[in-house]
Amino acid sequence: MIPKIMAHGGAWEWDDALDTGKCTGLKEALSIGNEILQRGGAALDAVEQTVRSLENNPVFDAGTGGYLNQDGLVQLDALIIDGAVRDFGAVGGVTQVQNPITLARKIMEETPQCFFVGDGADKMAEKLGISLIPNEQLVTATMRDFYLAQRTDGPSDTVGAIAIDDQGNVAAATSTSGTPYKPAGRVGDSPIYGAGGYAENGIGTAGATGQGENIMRLLLSKYSCDKMAEGLTAVEAAKATMHYIDNIFDDSMAGVIVIDSNGNFGAAHTTPKLAFGWVDEQGEIQTAIKANF
Ligand code: GLY
Repeated sequence: MIPKIMAHGGAWEWDDALDTGKCTGLKEALSIGNEILQRGGAALDAVEQTVRSLENNPVFDAGTGGYLNQDGLVQLDALIIDGAVRDFGAVGGVTQVQNPITLARKIMEETPQCFFVGDGADKMAEKLGISLIPNEQLVTATMRDFYLAQRTDGPSDTVGAIAIDDQGNVAAATSTSGTPYKPAGRVGDSPIYGAGGYAENGIGTAGATGQGENIMRLLLSKYSCDKMAEGLTAVEAAKATMHYIDNIFDDSMAGVIVIDSNGNFGAAHTTPKLAFGWVDEQGEIQTAIKANF
């Protein structure tokens, strides 16, 4: 089948001046993932490499440029899912890893466990051959100022990627530093299997973003995939997912991107903005900030 890839850079409200940077970052990241898919590579590799690019881009709330928590640390969460074998790897609260998504993948593939948190996750990174970095290396001047002002009003710019490859295998990846000035130890939806992401061959894949607590409460990405399992297309599943969360919570503040098993895209949000991108039928990378798919 024709491979497909989609990525997001968060759902929230933010200043229009930030839109261009987000779209440029999404395009750069998607070009990496798309190149992997176009040469016959795996969806899993494509989503990991797309998210690594977004983690390395200080524009987004993941990896470099993440928010500092109340203890003054960038504390990162990530999840990767291989929909071909129904497996996942996840990390929560890591502070010494540049690319938590790669640590999540190594946990999935090289350990019998699925999920590591805190110091144990950083220690596991070292055991798995990932060099630890000082936390300050993840801190940008903008985010330092944000922390010093004790601001909690920043957007949740969690990043994520979903893909289906030419073999029909689906994968999802998501990564974040969470919410601004969060209490130390707080973990949101992003690393939770079924909440921040989900993927299952024959059904599709989804990635959620926005205010994590409500997304976790509803396992929102799994909900999107359940809707596709019932026969909804990606567009219909994305809309149904936002309808679901919006009916339950007044302050849902969520977005979702979806690919169904036929390679159709869907995206929807209850927030004023969702930054997302995809590769269209002509092979061009498209981005959007306010649209629903
Ligand atoms: N969606 C990211 C978070 O709430 O941590």
